[in-house]
Amino acid sequence: MSPDPNTSTAHPGGEPDTGSAAVTVQVPAKVNVQLAVGPPRPDGFHELANVFLAVGLYDRVTARPAERLELGCTGPDADRVPLDGTNLAARAATSLAARHGIEPAVRLDIEKDIPVAGGMAGGSADAAGALLACDVLWGLQTPQEELLEICAELGSDVPFSLVGGAALGRGRGERLSVLEVGAEFHWVFATAEGGLSTPAVYREFDRLTGSAAPEPQPSEALLAALRRGDAEQLAACLANDLEPAALSLRPELSRTLETGRSAGAAAALVSGSGPTCAFLATSAQTAEDVAGALREAGVCRTARTATGPASGARVLHDRTDRTATNRTP
Ligand code: C5P
Repeated sequence: MSPDPNTSTAHPGGEPDTGSAAVTVQVPAKVNVQLAVGPPRPDGFHELANVFLAVGLYDRVTARPAERLELGCTGPDADRVPLDGTNLAARAATSLAARHGIEPAVRLDIEKDIPVAGGMAGGSADAAGALLACDVLWGLQTPQEELLEICAELGSDVPFSLVGGAALGRGRGERLSVLEVGAEFHWVFATAEGGLSTPAVYREFDRLTGSAAPEPQPSEALLAALRRGDAEQLAACLANDLEPAALSLRPELSRTLETGRSAGAAAALVSGSGPTCAFLATSAQTAEDVAGALREAGVCRTARTATGPASGARVLHDRTDRTATNRTP
């Protein structure tokens, strides 16, 4: 079922009159500390060794009972979020309802803080958030494994958005093994004007690399740095095979990366398919200094600090008539 285009807008005039039941889920953004990309597979996807780290920039998704599927979005980038049936949060609600043979009679309100089309899995976060919020609102208690299956059908990064923390993603990124992380890492994220299309970045990767890309492997040194919580070692290992493709499409990002490095970041890289640039710092103070320098140089739209790992999709408020459970998947 598609959301009603007449009601699928942000609702500055107040909340819809659907009773008081509501479930709010918070979901983090991610940065890929390693993104090793292989050649294209027959299905068009690329085999990956994708080391995800969830970071503390969050979207919130609130689910409330409604007559039919409706979507709303607020936040600085809200006008760039599609509010039709293509929205991943809407698709998540529809998939979950279909599995259980029920109607997706729900209003989803997304409070958007993760950059849109920024390479930080914002759309995936909303999908994972909607899935968990609807599961709790509808009292389904879908097993975690089944939720992860639905996530994988929705998109390669969605399972990680549900789980959070740190994980190695194999296959197209959806087959996860949880990773140990020994400390909190300090990051700066420089967002850019406009987004980058993930398929376009992968196409550019193919154009630049052809079928010459080797089989992707996780870096043992990087996994050890995460385990030990060693920021300097992690900085030395950060790697994103999509970065040359993102820079080819958006050459001006080189200046952003260089500005952060000169300001004291231990390492700089494009986040996922970009155009957000990520900077690893060895202290909270250095992260603030790097963010300040990026803002001052005018090489980004915004510069935000955040730490990682962050928790995955998490129920913040459960105003249903069932016992409130602070459920984490
Ligand atoms: O899985 P998801 O829908 O997020 O992927 C978006 C696009 O990114 C795919 O259509 C594909 O072009 C590209 N992609 C890829 N290989 C992956 C993940 C994504 O080529 N492992």
